[in-house]
Amino acid sequence: MKKIGMLTSGGDCQALNAAMRGLVKCLTNSSEDVEIYGFLEGYRGLIYGDYRMLSGRDFSGILTKGGTILGSSRTPFKTIKEPDENGINKVEAMKDNYKKLGLDCLAVLGGNGSHKTANLLREEGLNIVTLPKTIDNDLYGTDMTFGFQSAVNIATEAIDCIHTTAASHGRVFIVEIMGHKTGWLALNAGIAGGADIILLPEIPYDIKKVAKAIEVRHEKGSKFTILAVAEGAISKEKALLTKKELKEQMKASKYPSVSYEIADELSELLKLDVRVAVPGYTQRGGSPCPYDRVFASRLGSEAGKLILEGQYGFMVGIKNREIVKVPLEEVAGRLKTVDPQASIIKEAKMMGISFGD
Ligand code: F6P
Repeated sequence: MKKIGMLTSGGDCQALNAAMRGLVKCLTNSSEDVEIYGFLEGYRGLIYGDYRMLSGRDFSGILTKGGTILGSSRTPFKTIKEPDENGINKVEAMKDNYKKLGLDCLAVLGGNGSHKTANLLREEGLNIVTLPKTIDNDLYGTDMTFGFQSAVNIATEAIDCIHTTAASHGRVFIVEIMGHKTGWLALNAGIAGGADIILLPEIPYDIKKVAKAIEVRHEKGSKFTILAVAEGAISKEKALLTKKELKEQMKASKYPSVSYEIADELSELLKLDVRVAVPGYTQRGGSPCPYDRVFASRLGSEAGKLILEGQYGFMVGIKNREIVKVPLEEVAGRLKTVDPQASIIKEAKMMGISFGD
């Protein structure tokens, strides 16, 4: 008999259900007897012993469903070692609940912060297997995270829609793309949506160069311009600030996000109306795309295999199209960012896409 705990933690994304279904199908399809404990709303459920017993039937019909049947929440790693408002030691509580239930393993579906906590629990002696979820694609140790391709599809569709109205009205439009501190989503959706300018956190922009790129387009006869701007995009000046200085500036800013600041600066420089569209949380909502359904199912199945073999302390990921297992200590606390020298950036530049650098 294997007793498996499972939780989904952090911002949700598409294909969380598909990944859990893959994992559970692999387990229930084996000769091993299994009990599945689904912790509700991420690590919160493990801390407070809030769980549901699940059977294979709970995972039927969820391949195509967005969100997560377990619910999710953010339990910041920064404060994980601090007691909660009632003085409960969160790490000890998680260990106690794991032990009380006699679990053999905990499967964690999460992004960057969740992997730090998963690794901490591994260091504390729990058996952990993780799966890489996030629309941001910023997890170290895997070429891709599930949720990313679905989000690229949605962000691309948003740019496509803006394209037609921008063309009709001869306008400059900024589409702000999620991605947290990295530009994977903006880069891929930007290229897929035919954006003329793509601004990424990894390539700080010079607003005058961005304005120049728009002017050049207009001189060549293009009446509209589309900018795909990552929510974490940063100017060259701001990139020189310390973390603390930057935080203070952002707090004092009158703009809800970087795109509105860029729009204001460009309007001023070009004497043009610049509009902003923010697809926001739609990017991590709805049904997973076919790629993510397949990818998350594969990861889930391979995670199930690791659990059956008693191989713990790994994240399942993908490298050069092969599913691999990566030690958690290699993943935790490391961000996978876009390399400004990567060939995809060079290819985009050769096509005339400006990165404002
Ligand atoms: O990590 C996924 C993500 O959607 C990021 O792209 C975004 O910056 C963040 O989560 C938003 O977080 P929250 O759900 O806490 O508002």
